[in-house]
Amino acid sequence: MQKPKVLVIAEEKKTQSAVTGALKDIAIILISGAAPEALVAEYTENSPSVVIVAVSSEPAFTFKAIADLVAAGALVIVIGQTKDPDHILGAMRAGAREFLLETDREGLRRAVHEHAKPSETRGPGGTVVSFFPTRGGVGCTSIATNLGHALQKAGRRVCVVDFDLHLGDVLSFLDLPGTYSITDVLANIGRLDRDLLDASIARHASGLRVLAQSGKVEEADHVRPLEVSQLLGFLRRHYDQVLVDGVRGFDEMSLAALDASQKILVVLTQDVPAVRNAKRCLDLFRRLGYGDNKVSLLVNRFQKNPDITARVIEETTGLPVAATLSNDYHAAITAINRGLPLQSVAPRSRLTKDIEQHLVPLLAEPGHGAGKVGFFRNLLARKADNGAAGTT
Ligand SMILES: Nc1ncnc2c1ncn2[C@@H]1O[C@H](COP(=O)(O)OP(=O)(O)OP(=O)(O)O)[C@@H](O)[C@H]1O
Ligand SMILES: [Mg+2]
Repeated sequence: MQKPKVLVIAEEKKTQSAVTGALKDIAIILISGAAPEALVAEYTENSPSVVIVAVSSEPAFTFKAIADLVAAGALVIVIGQTKDPDHILGAMRAGAREFLLETDREGLRRAVHEHAKPSETRGPGGTVVSFFPTRGGVGCTSIATNLGHALQKAGRRVCVVDFDLHLGDVLSFLDLPGTYSITDVLANIGRLDRDLLDASIARHASGLRVLAQSGKVEEADHVRPLEVSQLLGFLRRHYDQVLVDGVRGFDEMSLAALDASQKILVVLTQDVPAVRNAKRCLDLFRRLGYGDNKVSLLVNRFQKNPDITARVIEETTGLPVAATLSNDYHAAITAINRGLPLQSVAPRSRLTKDIEQHLVPLLAEPGHGAGKVGFFRNLLARKADNGAAGTT
């Protein structure tokens, strides 16, 4: 059997040698040479089975880097010079699997044996796609649920996650009961394998999975931004496509979901408030360091005649319209009220066909998996922008 690849991220040569000495006969060791902002890119390129991260002289940066790696699909083991309780807690909150002393040779060997699979059998996995509404009611939940259904029908393994933890309605759109919640998955993340996860979370007849907080709304406020990255990284390892609904605005939770996404679909309609907000959102995304290949514009309820054409939207926002979805209120509201996918209530609607013919291929485009935005770039951009988001 081929040895697993282990990527080691450690500032000090002494730590690098200790890990190499402990593991060299059971793993292929790669010592990270990447700058902090390029760690995720280095992980994606090498696709190691396990990443070992040493707590650096700036522990807060280490924990954010771990969260970014976990969001990219990495399985992270953290090592430290001492078992500092703050460091252990920080590492676990960031989504690490274990915390070990860097001198614990046997612990390291066991952890790699336990967590590593040969590199060809695992990689970062599927992709996370977030829907970002430019104002309320633009159609994000309709699109997320029906695109999820269409992708599942096309043979992908799909999970829709509802991040509106208080009043999310994804389960209702598909007439599913709220069973295993987001906080349940987070509490059991170390124990859940694919079969257990599949068996626990809500399942539509098509096979589409839905993870929401419904039923345990009182626990919603316990979810922290780092856990959002951890959850999406975890789901990404088990599903081809993770579609995120319920992200709103630029609070820490939303930013964590957006950072952990490989694609953001900014949803708007042909009206002035939505287009103005789309421009503001895209400007902010650019300042956050999200490349234009990560962000796409999606016009819902599209009609040919209004003053605000696709061209006006493109000129105003500076981004091409990636797809348009037809306006069919009767089909959309019938689907919602019956708790059924559009495919079942209106298979011949132009809207149903647009989702199948425009959106499904859009997510299969090359480059759509390239979520390589670094923490430091984000941090610097955010610091520079502090307070600017609400004033543009
Ligand atoms: N393509 C469409 N054509 C016509 N009506 C649509 C279309 N998409 C959505 N709608 C209608 O728009 C309304 C809002 O849809 P939906 O709840 O999916 O939006 P949302 O962005 O998730 O809203 P919220 O801000 O409440 O989360 C619903 O009545 C739905 O039927
Ligand atoms: Mg909604």
